[in-house]
Amino acid sequence: MSNFLHWFIIIISVGSFLGCVWLIWWSSRPRPGEASSGEETGHTWDGDLAEYNNPLPRWWLWMFYLSIVIGLGYMVFYPALGNFAGTSKWTQVKQYEEEMQRADEKYGALFKQYAQQPIPQLAGDTAAMKTGQRLFINHCSTCHGSDAGGATGFPSLKDRDWLYGSSPETIKASILNGRNGVMPPFAAAVGGEQGVDEVANYVMSLSGAPHDAGKALAGKAKFAVCAGCHGPEGKGNQAIGAPNLTDDIWLYRGSIGAVKKAINEGRNGVMPAQLEYLGEQKVHLLAAYIYSLSQAQ
Ligand code: HEC
Ligand code: HEC
Repeated sequence: MSNFLHWFIIIISVGSFLGCVWLIWWSSRPRPGEASSGEETGHTWDGDLAEYNNPLPRWWLWMFYLSIVIGLGYMVFYPALGNFAGTSKWTQVKQYEEEMQRADEKYGALFKQYAQQPIPQLAGDTAAMKTGQRLFINHCSTCHGSDAGGATGFPSLKDRDWLYGSSPETIKASILNGRNGVMPPFAAAVGGEQGVDEVANYVMSLSGAPHDAGKALAGKAKFAVCAGCHGPEGKGNQAIGAPNLTDDIWLYRGSIGAVKKAINEGRNGVMPAQLEYLGEQKVHLLAAYIYSLSQAQ
């Protein structure tokens, strides 16, 4: 933290404490010209509703002071004042590491035992799959959805359609090392705007989606540019994660607009590698969980 920030934080924090003390002292002190404590102020409403100048109860006032003292204690104990580490030397990272270590001691043996079983066998173990589901919800649901149903740009992991393949080893490799589907922009290669429109209509026709038959016919020849990755029939290529375009299951949306966007701008889906983050054993269990979802279809 820079020297400026260090002092900025200290001055604001300590200043607000002193400000609170002053405010309480100032507002609880009698003022000249005011009705003295316990007397009527002279304001009346509805004929007989009178206002008294009653001070805050003492115990209430002392609660304010007490909370300020406790607050100061916190600022000394925890890192609250700029670069000052606090007398407890507490840090978020240290707390996280201690919790992780405790969890490892508690569950480590279990993950190790799971990791020794082949994925298809593990996928049949109900208790293991419950743990797998919890891991999935913690680490994967932000992108793939808590039910693994996916979202635009994030594949569903519970259908029978796979970008990279459904074998236990492939699923594990997807999670362990991550994936990056790369499709460069192709507008120029298919002849500009008109060509994009034609090829897009051809792509729509592959899965029987609404399209313009004339344009689709013209686009068929131009699909040769795409065939290198998506295959001559558009059935995709799992070795590079090129989606099957004939099955009406879409990674991005299945609208003509989304298909044109793919051709004009390219697509670049990234699945982050988990090995370093979760370790091999947890990934093994997660792979079994995903495998079990696909088997349930
Ligand atoms: C930051 C978002 C993100 C997170 C977090 C994430 N994924 Fe993914 N995942 C993706 C994307 C995007 C793809 C598709 C990659 C592509 O387009 O090539 C993908 C692909 C996959 C695939 C391959 C699917 C197929 O059809 O072949 C599997 C399996 C997978 N993810 C599992 C997981 C698991 C398990 C986790 C949790 C540990 C996880 N993902 C966390 C974004 C994410
Ligand atoms: C270099 C290989 C490559 C070529 C050539 C290629 N694509 Fe792709 N395409 C991919 C990959 C990989 C993806 C998946 C991108 C991702 O994971 O984000 C993709 C995704 C798509 C998608 C999105 C599919 C979905 O399910 O949402 C469409 C549509 C598409 N491509 C159409 C085309 C068309 C049309 C052409 C020819 C003009 C073409 N692609 C050429 C590799 C390629």
